[in-house]
Amino acid sequence: MGGGAREHALAWKLSRAAGIDELYAAPGNPGMAGIATCVPIAADATVELAEFAASLHIDLTLVGPELPLVLGIADEFARRGLLLVGPSRAAAEVEGSKVFTKEFCLRNGIPTARAKVVRNRDEAAAAVKELKVPVVFKADGLAAGKGVQVCRRKGEVEQALARYFEERTFGAAGEKVLVEECLEGEEISFMVLTDGVSVLPLASARDYKRLEDGDGGPNTGGMGSVSPAPTEPGLAARILRTIVHPTIAGLAAEGRPYRGVLYAGVMATKAGPQLLEYNCRFGDPETQAVIPRLDCDLLPLLRAAAAGELGALRAAWKREVAVCVVLAADGYPASPRRGDAITGLGEALAQPGVLLFHAGTALQDGRLVTAGGRVVSVVGRGVTLEEAAQTAYSGVARVQFDGMHYRRDVGKGLS
Ligand code: AMP
Ligand code: GLY
Repeated sequence: MGGGAREHALAWKLSRAAGIDELYAAPGNPGMAGIATCVPIAADATVELAEFAASLHIDLTLVGPELPLVLGIADEFARRGLLLVGPSRAAAEVEGSKVFTKEFCLRNGIPTARAKVVRNRDEAAAAVKELKVPVVFKADGLAAGKGVQVCRRKGEVEQALARYFEERTFGAAGEKVLVEECLEGEEISFMVLTDGVSVLPLASARDYKRLEDGDGGPNTGGMGSVSPAPTEPGLAARILRTIVHPTIAGLAAEGRPYRGVLYAGVMATKAGPQLLEYNCRFGDPETQAVIPRLDCDLLPLLRAAAAGELGALRAAWKREVAVCVVLAADGYPASPRRGDAITGLGEALAQPGVLLFHAGTALQDGRLVTAGGRVVSVVGRGVTLEEAAQTAYSGVARVQFDGMHYRRDVGKGLS
């Protein structure tokens, strides 16, 4: 379910597995059309999707984006006895409400930044005074990855106060806001597959959220990723022990057993790993770098997680590095332009070690054109980080469309 590069990467992996007779993508994209039957149902039409899956006796459904999960698509499928990889509406609250997650972390001793829940400008100003600049503002509800603002100077705080409480940019999602302490350290994206009891860690990744090289410019949906994340040894084990396991156990104990992919956005601080946020699904663009490194079939792992049979199953990983560079449309992220003709994808794909995953593309009169902010993910694989980055950029160099822009520093200067 879904039509981004994350879903294309997952469909690509699944399409190569034994035991798949038919693969459907709703709504899919032109890149997925070669490997799956694309069905024009939007990802948030949860009842329609469940009816479609029931009518075709679909054996297993994998949900890409958060919205259908937060809307309760897992419950809709469960009512019909259909197997789906993804948490129930109650468990998806870990992404659906940042206030819920913050309070959950406090109750369960999960390390995270100190924070205050505020509802208006005065409460927010008082919270800023107490926590002291730098601070972070976070809209409680879903905001398409744009609900967080890090304020490093007083002027930015004023701007945020106006944005969150006067302009009410986030509508209902911003009725409650978290004001939290700013953490310093390296960020890491850590995803696991869980059936509510057992946990299967996936390979770590680094996300490049900012628009410009050197982490300048505004936050975006993600401009690139690297897997594995260059981290100190032992960090993954520590994240599992202090963050992931207590979360899975705590959610179960609170009557919200979690099944599916749990994505922890973690800051590795001097005092140890701290949770920045949870997502209730695979990360985008992390998945485009993680999934090509998987050295076993994905299907049995997904099926086991959905069926509550994960047990001691483990994933195998290739000893290679993957670098993903996102090619963005003119005007992204503010107002991406559509309709620019895309050329060179075939040549890019012909480069050894390159994979391409579509996102904002469409077919118009037989031509491939841009149709969204993040247009394609170009993935390069290699034995070393340098080789993987070089491979990814050799693919990037073949692709062209008017207004195309991308970061030139993904995977560079890390090791
Ligand atoms: P989120 O949408 O929660 O992932 O937040 C977006 C980005 O804001 C994160 O990836 C971090 O880079 C940054 N961020 C969020 N919370 C904090 C924090 N407490 N301290 C520092 N940076 C943060
Ligand atoms: N890469 C961040 C996310 O998927 O939300």
